[in-house]
Amino acid sequence: MSDDGSDAATAGAVDWAALRAAAAEARANAYAPYSRFSVGAALLAVDGRVFRGSNVENASYGLSLCAERAAVAAAVTAGARRFVALALVTGASPPATPCGACRQVLSELPPSFAIRCFGADGDTVDTTVEALLPRAFSRGALDR
Ligand code: THU
Repeated sequence: MSDDGSDAATAGAVDWAALRAAAAEARANAYAPYSRFSVGAALLAVDGRVFRGSNVENASYGLSLCAERAAVAAAVTAGARRFVALALVTGASPPATPCGACRQVLSELPPSFAIRCFGADGDTVDTTVEALLPRAFSRGALDR
């Protein structure tokens, strides 16, 4: 972690090819019979562990779970709460970025970390949690 309390300094050392491969493997396991839009996520924790998530849809459509939130749940369940990077893989062109609900959930686990979205044809979008959801609603608002 750097002096400003962020883990951004370590993001430069991210093996994005490996993280993309992990997300692609997760995407291959996606359960998306309704939308046919498969998504895979791989979340790199500061301790080097990688947590995967795929979207899991449901016949009651609104219960569908996004890949990013599945990865966060896997990570937190395993005791990881600090992250360096997230790789997101879809078949979209241009690459899809995390939905609003996932942005809010990702912002719960500071500091902001790097996100690389991979789409069809090898296109990528580089962003961060902070850039995706500036001025997010946070626990600080609950201190009243
Ligand atoms: N989906 C994700 O997994 N992550 C996102 O950030 C956006 C959408 C999933 C939900 C649903 O299963 C499918 O993509 C189509 O919306």
